[in-house]
Amino acid sequence: MARKSKGAPDAIQLLKKDHAEVTALFTRYEDAGDRDEKAEIASEICRKLTIHALCEEELLYPAAHESIDDDLVYQAEVEHQGAKDLIARIEDADPEAENFDAMVRVLGEYVRHHVKEEESEMFPQLKRSDLDLEALGLELAERRSELETALGSAADEDDEAEDDEDLDDDYDDDDDDDDEDFDDDVDVEIDDDAEGDRDRAA
Ligand SMILES: [Fe+2]
Repeated sequence: MARKSKGAPDAIQLLKKDHAEVTALFTRYEDAGDRDEKAEIASEICRKLTIHALCEEELLYPAAHESIDDDLVYQAEVEHQGAKDLIARIEDADPEAENFDAMVRVLGEYVRHHVKEEESEMFPQLKRSDLDLEALGLELAERRSELETALGSAADEDDEAEDDEDLDDDYDDDDDDDDEDFDDDVDVEIDDDAEGDRDRAA
């Protein structure tokens, strides 16, 4: 984490933007009129949350462990696991299933809790620490871009690009969607990249 970047969003701005985008998607899910639209939004929620969680686990949390209250970071890591388990269930589920809405709603509750804890506790502590949030923001943006490419490549080529048109995508946000099934190749690629990035972050 050596580089400084003038004018780019710092780590906290970038992660808060992720939080706002995914929160907006849960509202869209509740307002959606039909099952196909709900399935598409749920898929996009899972994709965005997967990328957000990986970025935080690979880069933010290792840096936070060195800078702020360890217990707060461990708690966030444990809570991430619960959300990831539910994301996997949603990705495997039939959107027509009776409990599909319930799973998405519970995931929304996890995310609201996650956002509240990070934005009211972890981020203020990070701001008071000596962590270089601009350099971390650069690394997060870079990793997010890599993950969007990797997960986007798993998407089928349906023409769904207008899905996120009402979100304000200032920071290099690739809106490929409709990738309900992330295949094994993508998982392997993520794991390999994760190793490298953990090393870099250490
Ligand atoms: Fe977060």
